[in-house]
Amino acid sequence: MISSDKMKILFVGARLFDDIAIYTKKEGITSIITESNPDSKNLHLSDFHYIVPRGMEGPKEIALKEDVDAVVPLIGIDKPLFEIAEMKEDLEKNYGLPVVASPVNAVSISRDKLKTKEFFVKHGIKTPSFSKISQNPSEIPLPAVFKQLEGQGGSGVKIAADMGNLKNCIKDFEGAIVEEFIEGTEVSIEVLRWKNETVPLVPVYKGKTTLECIHPLDKLKTAPLNMENQRNEDIRLLAGKIADLLGSQGVIDIDMIIDKKTGINYFIEINTRPSGTRYLTAASTNISPMHELVDMATGNWNSKDVQKRIMQYTALEIPIGDYKTKKNNYKFRDFENENCWVIHGPQNFQRITIRAESIHKANETAKRLNIDYKKF
Ligand SMILES: Nc1ncnc2c1ncn2[C@@H]1O[C@H](COP(=O)(O)OP(=O)(O)O)[C@@H](O)[C@H]1O
Ligand SMILES: [Mg+2]
Repeated sequence: MISSDKMKILFVGARLFDDIAIYTKKEGITSIITESNPDSKNLHLSDFHYIVPRGMEGPKEIALKEDVDAVVPLIGIDKPLFEIAEMKEDLEKNYGLPVVASPVNAVSISRDKLKTKEFFVKHGIKTPSFSKISQNPSEIPLPAVFKQLEGQGGSGVKIAADMGNLKNCIKDFEGAIVEEFIEGTEVSIEVLRWKNETVPLVPVYKGKTTLECIHPLDKLKTAPLNMENQRNEDIRLLAGKIADLLGSQGVIDIDMIIDKKTGINYFIEINTRPSGTRYLTAASTNISPMHELVDMATGNWNSKDVQKRIMQYTALEIPIGDYKTKKNNYKFRDFENENCWVIHGPQNFQRITIRAESIHKANETAKRLNIDYKKF
């Protein structure tokens, strides 16, 4: 066993650890990573690491063997979430070891788009009208959005704009759902929740919905949301309520579409894991969701304190492809002053997130970096 008189945390998965490495050092925490890919690039950033087989048996064994104080799964994809939730149940119930992740019940709803929609309907939360896929195309209004029950990054979603497309989709999406196309603005919000205390962060603007179904990953994004007919405070309250109803833990993000004509907020998805919007959220609010997970693990998380620390900077995130800079690494992941920027993401899919005191200052930074974001 690694001897240490400091607090010891096990992080499951190395891929997102670059957002945390500096923070655990600063907080005097001993960090251990378990990872199944021996070539994963952030392994050397933790104090210790173990290569384990895929799945959660390995991490569980290491957590017990090392007698860690808590486990923080750093998993950015949907597939392992259920297994993580099962590990949580076992370690928390049988060993009193906290695991900062959503429990089985929440994950079984969030990972299945049909169950998510039934959850929204049950609690009177608006979601686009939908049906399970039937064989009768004439009953489906166009355009129609077809969704596999599981999927992320747009992988299981297709929009049919005409009858030909519709018929193909019906074949391809057997057992899945079809929902009403909402023309409007895509928004998401991350919510922190731990020990029954909830802090919704900031509504993020992610662009307009399109018939081409361009995923928000490829668009210019900004925070806080700035729309005439929307009160961000109302969105935050509702997001907090959804997290409470779901019983989420750690961090989640909630996706919605604001109908262009009516201003109605339709909820479409909940992801019970760290979100791709976390840099925008950190730039705007000065709350890094990833650092908050560490505070939850150490027992130093206090919702009132987080609420008080929330700032309202202007934040912009721009897909930048392949930007030449030495700053895309763990040393430069934090937003350190009022006007600054962070670059992140793999080569060819890099994004720059700018924090500024005003949109004017954000423009100045973009100009200085030679980024023409108006074309997005
Ligand atoms: N009802 C809808 N109307 C219009 N566009 C939609 C609708 N549902 C999904 N989309 C588009 O498809 C994208 C992916 O859908 P989503 O349900 O969030 O699945 P994923 O898990 O792949 O992110 C959304 O971000 C949006 O661009
Ligand atoms: Mg989504």
